Amino acid sequence: MRKPIIAANWKLNKGPSDTEDFIQSFESKLNDLPKGVDIVLAPPYISLPKATELLAHSRVRVAAQNMSEQDSGAYTGEISALMLKEVFVNYVILGHSERRAIYGESDALINAKVLKAHDLELRPIFCIGETLQEREDGKLEDVLRTQITDGLKDVSEKQMLDTVIAYEPVWAIGTGVTASPQQAQDAHEFVRSVLTDLYGVSVSEKVRIQYGGSVKPDNAKELLGQKDIDGALVGGAGLEVSSFADIIRNGVGE
Ligand code: PGA
Repeated sequence: MRKPIIAANWKLNKGPSDTEDFIQSFESKLNDLPKGVDIVLAPPYISLPKATELLAHSRVRVAAQNMSEQDSGAYTGEISALMLKEVFVNYVILGHSERRAIYGESDALINAKVLKAHDLELRPIFCIGETLQEREDGKLEDVLRTQITDGLKDVSEKQMLDTVIAYEPVWAIGTGVTASPQQAQDAHEFVRSVLTDLYGVSVSEKVRIQYGGSVKPDNAKELLGQKDIDGALVGGAGLEVSSFADIIRNGVGE
């Protein structure tokens, strides 16, 4: 049985003081939320120390939204895995479609980041997903297979078990258009089948695959009710305490 994992990706929102406000309010609601779910918040870098400090004794975990594949040196503007560890970050989102599309991150670069994260025992939330054009051109499976095979190259079986995959169709991110539960389930089933090819069924059955792309309180139940959907990576609806809490409540049940 895979434990669901629901993460809020705040993107370029919430500095330290907004982070503090959110966490204080969210923590006061936590006792009323289902227990059998991992909950993760991903603030911007600048807010990570505040988040981990406030959540030091909480069940809520903290993710970075990106990191460098390098350890140190002349890489202006970058943050290393070791720096994230130093401020007690647990997870790191890698290969988000905005990183791929806006900042040109390749599968090879994302792979280097995934391997670096594992070296330092940070858990990657490894994002994949197709554009609308790719889906309409019938390339969905090819795109996902390449992203998985190249992005997870040299990841060991043990590391794979500590990797979360986020399937996020690019056309559903921030658009209000959600993949139907059946479209999402079909893609997740395909992703799991690629993992079975690469790692065998005993590993692939344990890997958690989140769905992302316009997840809201009113669609969380149906999406997370699908057999191969093990949680959600939430953007817009993760910025408000009440909608994020409702996604957890509706998606996981009591
Ligand atoms: P959205 O973003 O929920 O606002 O569509 C999801 C994501 O980018 O992870």
